Amino acid sequence: MCGIVGCIGNKEAMSYLISGLHRLEYRGYDSAGVVTVNDKGATLLRAKGKVAELEYLTSKNISKDIVGIGHTRWATHGEPSELNAHPHKAGDIYLVHNGIIENYKELRSELKKHKFSSQTDTEVLAALIDSFYSDDTELVDAVTQALQLTVGTYGIAVVSVRNPEEIVVARAGSPLIIGIGSDETYIASDASALIGYTTQAIYLNDGEIAICRRDGVKLRNLAAQPISARVETIEIDMQAIQKQGYDHFLLKEICEQPQTLRSTLSGRVNVEDCLVKLGGLNLTTEELKNIEHVTIIGCGTAYYAGLLGSYYLEQLVDGLTVDVAMASELRYRSFHLPKNTVALVISQSGETADTLACLRELKQRGVKTLGIINAVGSTIAREVDGGVYVHAGPEISVASTKAFTSQAVTITMFGVQVAQAKGARAKDVSKFIEELDRLPSEIESVITKYKERVAAIAKRYAHYEHAIFFGRDTLYPVALEGALKLKEISYIQAEGFAAGELKHGPIALVDNAFFEVALILDNWLFDKSLSALAEVNARGGHIIAITNSKKEIDAEEVLFIDTELDLLAPIVLNIAQQLFAYYVTLAKGYDVDQPRNLAKSVTVE
Ligand code: AGP
Repeated sequence: MCGIVGCIGNKEAMSYLISGLHRLEYRGYDSAGVVTVNDKGATLLRAKGKVAELEYLTSKNISKDIVGIGHTRWATHGEPSELNAHPHKAGDIYLVHNGIIENYKELRSELKKHKFSSQTDTEVLAALIDSFYSDDTELVDAVTQALQLTVGTYGIAVVSVRNPEEIVVARAGSPLIIGIGSDETYIASDASALIGYTTQAIYLNDGEIAICRRDGVKLRNLAAQPISARVETIEIDMQAIQKQGYDHFLLKEICEQPQTLRSTLSGRVNVEDCLVKLGGLNLTTEELKNIEHVTIIGCGTAYYAGLLGSYYLEQLVDGLTVDVAMASELRYRSFHLPKNTVALVISQSGETADTLACLRELKQRGVKTLGIINAVGSTIAREVDGGVYVHAGPEISVASTKAFTSQAVTITMFGVQVAQAKGARAKDVSKFIEELDRLPSEIESVITKYKERVAAIAKRYAHYEHAIFFGRDTLYPVALEGALKLKEISYIQAEGFAAGELKHGPIALVDNAFFEVALILDNWLFDKSLSALAEVNARGGHIIAITNSKKEIDAEEVLFIDTELDLLAPIVLNIAQQLFAYYVTLAKGYDVDQPRNLAKSVTVE
């Protein structure tokens, strides 16, 4: 998803702009650009492709200007190109934008004086601002007037040759953070671009505009009324956004799951007293006790974590009904929720547009919403009624791994707390609590023991074009997640199925162009799971079985994962799937951390 940076201070701005854009690369993009301004002119540089291409241009076009903005673009309107790259110019102003201007066509038809050079909605917004920017008009007033005519979502930063002492920023739906330095002010789409520059930040809210100068920031709303600034402390350290010796962020984030899961659990699970205590739910014990229905929403991996968590909620809380919905679907459905419903909103970035829109719809209906979020201070985290940060640390790789594990565990902890509020005795939840406590070390053991074995298997299957993942019960969401992990970074066409569904159609796919990943637990469903394998084997399948069972399994490869966990074993088996997707992609030579077409945080609908 697009990234925005900016700075105004006491030294040349370009180095921060380039450094900040590198930090935001993980969000996914296809072109990039920067502009610095002074009272005589501007240095505008744009390039299709990577930030490194842009960086090369800056070495050939040195700028000493102390104010500038930059952008990484994930194309929505207009193909990736230099012409469509931001910043866009109109008169004396330059604009970068994240979001979608929905009424850009009508606006464009009114802007007769501007000679358009791109197909973007952003250039229309730039021209609209310029149309209000007469000689006696302040930049912030021209921006305000333009935004009052704008329909859609935006995070924008604007600079002007006419007044190179400030950056005007505004947000409606696309996050923007203002970093407060000692003698400089920074702009960024997320906190990772501010680390090492400042720890003090203002998280802009929807409908707010800020005038950023090197000596301070003034906030106002679209009615030009002043708003008091809320300075918060950024709690991410530099190490969290560096590879720390790993070849890729994805491998780092897979391998750091024992530690990140320990921080997810820290201070929340008390094994001795067999208790779970989640702070921040903003629900009394009575309210927890009265919950009758839980609806879980999310997108992609967050949705699959929610689906896995739903099984655990049902197992933990007698009589509780649970449903799980893709946020992008639920927000348009004529859904009805029973009274005493609580909605769990799952999101790593806390900025996913579909999830945010669904959250707002649920709140509109008076549903109590709880966030299960990784990114601290994100929009969803600030709009839910209560919630729990999963504390997995910044997740940089587009493919979500450690967040999935921490989200599924956090939902399980929530289930234990609800069960206890409803009178569950220690023995009713002790198995879950013991397994939660042991999960980090079990994951550590899987990574240590099986990383090389999985890498070897992955190399042998990397040439396939198609794959089917399947599992029963709590392994069904894990099969879906394993297929998503593989498809989104290796581009192998992979699908996940409930094992019982194969014979109702998908098994027609099985031929030599396919391999299959069968997830099997050594539990009451073991024999049933074998029948699905037999059906696939009978049709010439190439099965990789991932299992915690030592029993005989007929498969081309059997990856035995030695774990004593039972209830949470699906989370342990998923670690092997994460490693499998990583090593297949490595064997194929693709970009593991920034796969084509994808963004880390999908802030457009
Ligand atoms: C998962 O690997 C993908 N990157 C994607 O499906 C992601 O999970 C989805 O876009 C939801 O993102 P969120 O958790 O930040 O809301």
